[in-house]
This record gives sequence, C-alpha cells and structure tokens, in this order.
Amino acid sequence: CQWQDGRPRRQRLLVVANRLPVSATRKGEDSWQLEMSVGGLVTALLGVKDFDARWIGWAGVNVPDDVGQRALTKALAEKRCIPVFLEEEIVHQYYNGYCNNILWPLFHYLSLPQEDRLATTRSFQSQFDAYKKANQMFADVVNQHYEEGDVVWCHDYHLMFLPKCLKEYNSKMKVGWFLHTPFPSSEIHRTLPSRSELLRSVIAADLVGFHTYDYARHFVSACTRILGLEGTPEGVEDQGKLTRVAAFPLGIDSERFVRAIDLHPVQEHMKVLKQRFAGRKVMLGVDRLDMIKGIPQKILAFEKFLEENPQWRDKVVLLQIAVPTRTDVPEYQKLTSQVHEIVGRINGRFGTLTAVPIHHLDRSLDFHALCALYAVTDVALVTSLRDGMNLVSYEFVACQASKKGVLILSEFAGAAQSLGAGAILVNPWNITDVAASIKYALDMPADEREKRHQHNFKHVTTHTSQEWAATFVSELNDTIVEAQLRTRQ
Ligand code: ADP
Ligand code: G6P
Repeated sequence: CQWQDGRPRRQRLLVVANRLPVSATRKGEDSWQLEMSVGGLVTALLGVKDFDARWIGWAGVNVPDDVGQRALTKALAEKRCIPVFLEEEIVHQYYNGYCNNILWPLFHYLSLPQEDRLATTRSFQSQFDAYKKANQMFADVVNQHYEEGDVVWCHDYHLMFLPKCLKEYNSKMKVGWFLHTPFPSSEIHRTLPSRSELLRSVIAADLVGFHTYDYARHFVSACTRILGLEGTPEGVEDQGKLTRVAAFPLGIDSERFVRAIDLHPVQEHMKVLKQRFAGRKVMLGVDRLDMIKGIPQKILAFEKFLEENPQWRDKVVLLQIAVPTRTDVPEYQKLTSQVHEIVGRINGRFGTLTAVPIHHLDRSLDFHALCALYAVTDVALVTSLRDGMNLVSYEFVACQASKKGVLILSEFAGAAQSLGAGAILVNPWNITDVAASIKYALDMPADEREKRHQHNFKHVTTHTSQEWAATFVSELNDTIVEAQLRTRQ
C-alpha cells in the first residue's frame, strides 16, 4: 500500500489500449470535439473507478501538425487521457492491416477469402513491421509518463508486442496484459508467421489475463507447443521465470444500467418505443457492424422464423442497431452492403404498407436510448460467430429487472460460460436451430422467464467491471511480490 499525507494513496494505473475512451474530430486548427468511443474494451474500462488511472492510446485520427497535437493533448488531458500520435501510413499497416485484417479474424477463427489471403500473405511482413513500430511508439509514451510504483495494464491484440518493449525500458515495471478477444487453439495460432515473436513478447508481462479458462489454456498450450516452454498450473515458465496466466471474466458497471432505467430521459424513450411497437413483441440486436457478430446469420434465422410461423408475422419486430466500425477495411465494407441487401430483401418479402419486420440502424445510440431499448425488449439476440465475452448480453440483462425478457446467446461468446444457465444457447451457424429458439423464447411462460432472468441478473450484478479490474490488479501486485520472494530464496 502506498501512502500520501498520512492516508493510503490510490494506486496509479496506466491503462494502455489502442482505443481511447473518446474519439476526436477536428473542428478547427486548434479545436477538437471529443465523443465517446464504442466497443467492449471501452465499456469495460469505463467501469474501472477504484484507481488513480490514466489512459494512454491512439486518438483515432491523423494529426500531422504540432498545433493540432498540442491542442488535442490538452483537450484529452481533461479526460485523463494521453494520446499516442501515429502517422497515417503506420495506422494503415498496423491498425487496418495487421490488427484488423490478420489478428482479429485469426483470433475469431474466421478465414479471409482466397484473394485476400494471398494479398495478406504478401503484405504480411511490412504490416508486422508497422505493428512492432506502433507498439514501440506506445511504449515510448508509457515510459515518458511512468512513475515508480505504477501498474501498467496493457490491453488487447493491438499491443501484444508492448510488454516486451516496456520490460526492455525497465525490467522492474509492473506489467499486465489482458486480451479482450478469444485466444484461439494453438493449431490456429501456429499458422501465424509471427507466432513465436508475439508469444515471447506477451510472456514478458508479469501477468497475462483472458476472459475464460479455455482462452488461457489455449495460450499456455501455444507457449508449450510453439515455444517449447513448460506449462504449469500457474502459467508459463521460461528458464526459471514464471509468467502468471489466468482467467479474469469481465463484467459491466451493472449499477449504472440498473439505475438508468428510472431516469427521466430513459423513461421518456421507453414511452415512445412502447407506443411505436404496441401490439408487437420486440426483438433486439445491438452490435458493432463486425463479421464476428453473425449479423447476416441472425437476420437469416429471423427470416426462417417468419417463414415457418406466419401467425407471428405482424406480431413481432426485430430492431438491429449496428454501429459501423473499422470502415477502412474492405471486409467491413462488404459486410455493410451484405447486411443492407438481406434486410431489404426480407422487408420486401414480409413487410406491409404500414409495417416492416426489421428495423436496421447503422449507427450508435446514446446511453439513455440504448438502456430504454434494452428495457422494452422481449427477446435479445446475440449470435456472435466468436466473441471474447460480449457485454451487450450483460447490459441487456441489467436493464430487464422489470420485463424479464429472454436472452438468446451464441455458444461461441465468452458470455455463454457465465450466462449459459439463464440464456437459450444456440449455434449461430445453424439458422434452423436459431429460428426454433426464437419461437421458444417468444412462447416462454412467465415463470420460466423469471427463473432464467434471476439467474443471469444475479451474475451480472455481482461480477462487475470494478471487481474484474480490482482482481486483476491485485493479482498483478501479488505476482510481483511472490516473484521477488522467489528470487531472494
Ligand atoms: P465488442 O467488444 O466486440 O465491441 P461487446 O458486446 O463486448 O462487443 O461490447 C460492445 C459495447 O459497445 C457495448 O458496451 C455496447 O453497448 C456498445 N455498442 C455496440 N453497438 C452499439 C450501438 N449501436 N450503439 C451504442 N452502443 C453500442
Ligand atoms: C473490440 C476490441 C477492442 C476495440 C473494439 C472496437 O472490443 O476488443 O479493442 O476497441 O472492439 O473496435 P475499434 O477497432 O473501433 O477500436
């Protein structure tokens, strides 16, 4: 414990992630507008309140000039954020290329189409070089702001090279790394040309965390099979140095959602939604417009349900809110047109002059509108083809204290391991199964809904993001003390 003015001082935490909690848009030479970023990582870390935290990350925008950089640094400082400025070409190769076109699909067991796979193979080395360069730039900024005793917590697949860079600066720095995506089977990871270099740099951290025990186990077997290291119940051992590897399942700031339902603006939104969809059951999907979310599969399953259940056609509506993401990556552009095409076809097929079965919005909603939507929903549909955790399913449960709606959840989301007993689990690739689950959910008797909801609500309100962060950081502190004791023996 550190002390200041006779009182315990909150531990200083440097959170390092590619994405900052706010994204910047330039409004003039030296003026910037900041808006909340969208994504599970940001949602998770916003719940981290018990530390004296600073957030280091890329501002999501190219700022080539000093005036702009100075103004943005100042604006971000008010939010306790520290920017890493990356040049456009580096962003293209590191973020669009290596992170989102190589690591992201690989970690989610998705393969690229043949022509993209060849192009990716050709550009692999230059993208990996940019990735290392970008990670080194993050390390430089961390190093400038680091004070002795700080905990440095690195996040996600963008920064797998960072633990090694930081330890090269200062071997005593307390470094943790957490992955917000799945870690795939070692058989998948070993196809990556840079497989060993990435594993070696991650294990330079003192503590390595994953959402589930399975991801942690895959990581340890990748280290044993690819690097030939020893896997122990605690983690991975390399020439006497132990890197702790463990599961730390993430949660949300559940209180924020539970309380929001009683707020006036949320109640107002709910009133409008209830009027708008009176007489119809509301089904909801909330996702980033990403191929891992299985949005086309979800919509096709809904079509099958309508096809097989004509009695439901004018009694149910699917609201799909999909915020565009990584729009410079061609695969994401293709997905957007694909989703629009399917939605248009189904609305043409089952719509009437007064109503359509699917409302699809390509945009993000503010917090109040989102909570209201969750609260009026009868059935939430989360059909990720793979997903590290999936916090949308947690948010839905937190907002359902009164309605006790049903959650249909992909068995390939990390959340299936924690909310599986209350949700209806589905294989999103099997649209017949998903269509049958939609029918089951809509017909579910109130007592079964109540039982399932209570199970999940208890989990969501007791496994929060605050608890997740506190456990990770305390384990990181303990790991370091234990390592010091071991070296003294
Ligand atoms: P991922 O980490 O892949 O983004 P998660 O489900 O874990 O997926 O987290 C997504 C986060 O982004 C949630 O907090 C959710 O509320 C938010 N989000 C996703 N889509 C939207 C949207 N259309 N509008 C507002 N927030 C959204
Ligand atoms: C997932 C990743 C995060 C990322 C988020 C949004 O949650 O795990 O690291 O921030 O998606 O994606 P973006 O590319 O916009 O940061």
